[in-house]
Amino acid sequence: MPLTRRDFLQSAGAALGALALPSASSPTPADARPPAAGSVCVSVPPRLAGASAIELVPGVCRQAIRPDGPQTEIWGFNGSAPGPLLRFRQGESVAIRVRNALPQPTTVHWHGLRVPNAMDGVPHVTQHPIALGGTFDYRYRVEDTGTYWYHPHQSSFEQVPRGLYGMLVVEEAKPLAVDREVHWVLSDFKLDQGNRPVEDFGRILDFGTEGRHGNVVTLNGTAAGAHRRLELRPGERVRLRLLNAASARAFLLEFRGHSPWIVAYDGQAVAPHPIPDGRLLLGAGQRTDLVLDGTRPGAGEFAVVDHRRAAATMATLAYAGKPARAKALGRPAALAPNRYVEPDLGRATDHYLVFEGSGQGTPAIGRVDGKALDVEDIARRHGLTWTMNYTAQHEHAMMHEPLFRLRRGEHATVKMINNTDFEHPMHLHGHFFRVLAINDIPTRLREWRDTVVIDPRGSCDIALVADNVGEWMFHCHILDHAAGGMMGTVVVEA
Ligand code: C2O
Ligand code: CU
Repeated sequence: MPLTRRDFLQSAGAALGALALPSASSPTPADARPPAAGSVCVSVPPRLAGASAIELVPGVCRQAIRPDGPQTEIWGFNGSAPGPLLRFRQGESVAIRVRNALPQPTTVHWHGLRVPNAMDGVPHVTQHPIALGGTFDYRYRVEDTGTYWYHPHQSSFEQVPRGLYGMLVVEEAKPLAVDREVHWVLSDFKLDQGNRPVEDFGRILDFGTEGRHGNVVTLNGTAAGAHRRLELRPGERVRLRLLNAASARAFLLEFRGHSPWIVAYDGQAVAPHPIPDGRLLLGAGQRTDLVLDGTRPGAGEFAVVDHRRAAATMATLAYAGKPARAKALGRPAALAPNRYVEPDLGRATDHYLVFEGSGQGTPAIGRVDGKALDVEDIARRHGLTWTMNYTAQHEHAMMHEPLFRLRRGEHATVKMINNTDFEHPMHLHGHFFRVLAINDIPTRLREWRDTVVIDPRGSCDIALVADNVGEWMFHCHILDHAAGGMMGTVVVEA
């Protein structure tokens, strides 16, 4: 059944329920309560035996987040956070059945994958939400290699930080020559003293500031810290796939004593280069592939620290085992790039996206549901705190006008201007774009990305070719900002 504007508006009421502010304790129908503490959600192997289909079951489960004390009730895919690592080959056609065991409707979005619009997992825009107990079959061909991820796009400001996310890897035909591959999914949880989840989702205070941060930073679903050891053999070469799946937090990582090579941003190959200034920024939603060489055996242990949290230790690099090789390796080979149509700036149309909001006196006015309002009304009556191009939109529910329309095959540049005091990791669905300039300074690598961090009061220029038809989200990946108005669409017309 095709989704019409009317369905869309009819379901808007339901969606608004999920957005009511503050929604820390929005009522849950009696038959939709999460299972009592102690029960565990079904753990299903992702690849069903004997079939090429995969089943993902978002549900309520328990997991040890902190190293001590009781386990925490979380929401996870197939019984854990992160959910199962999905690994595909380029060109493979995949079928993924999502069975919703959550106490809320949901959808799954394949962040970074260029899927057909109907498979993009955006409620009210590309599909109906998956009802409680319902299923949805996602089918698509995996076009591009790289490190991606999946997460719900419904009430994502709640569903993602409760634990619903997982990494998705598309292998290269000719993989990088490494001894081992390691995956780090970084995130956080907000827990009370008794390890119970703090359920203060949807607070306007978080929407209008840096977003809701957890108090326990996690690496692969359990507390990060010096006790998390990555043991390297002397001379060993590891490919480290990093994902920031946190709903708001950014990481600024330093690998002390080591000099890893960056080989891909957001899954897209770049010329291998050391981390600029030795500090790797991972905004919410971003990925980086590193090649880490065991070059410091016998020199003790080294911390991986996060400079966004006063150099808190994320993990420890230590040495153990037989040397992998006598002499350390040099610069790794570049990954084979995915092939995208090169944006031709000579004939590109130019577009602008201006971000305003959150208190600081701007914007004087903005539009909500087509009506001009002043800032106070936008916050008070709609619980929204940000505008993009002077429009604040509710999460999916009330999309009136796309931010802009592009014809299929159109070459386009977008200048994003951040007139706010906050950082915004901006994500476009369905396409990759080249990052041309940050704060008006041309980038050295013009890297392809799907998520780019815009500095407070900064700007960013990107270029793309609109070659995937449909209505695509363009939003801030601080999920509280997205729910607070930084949510829009770009339409690519056939
Ligand atoms: Cu990772 Cu629109 O999301
Ligand atoms: Cu933002």
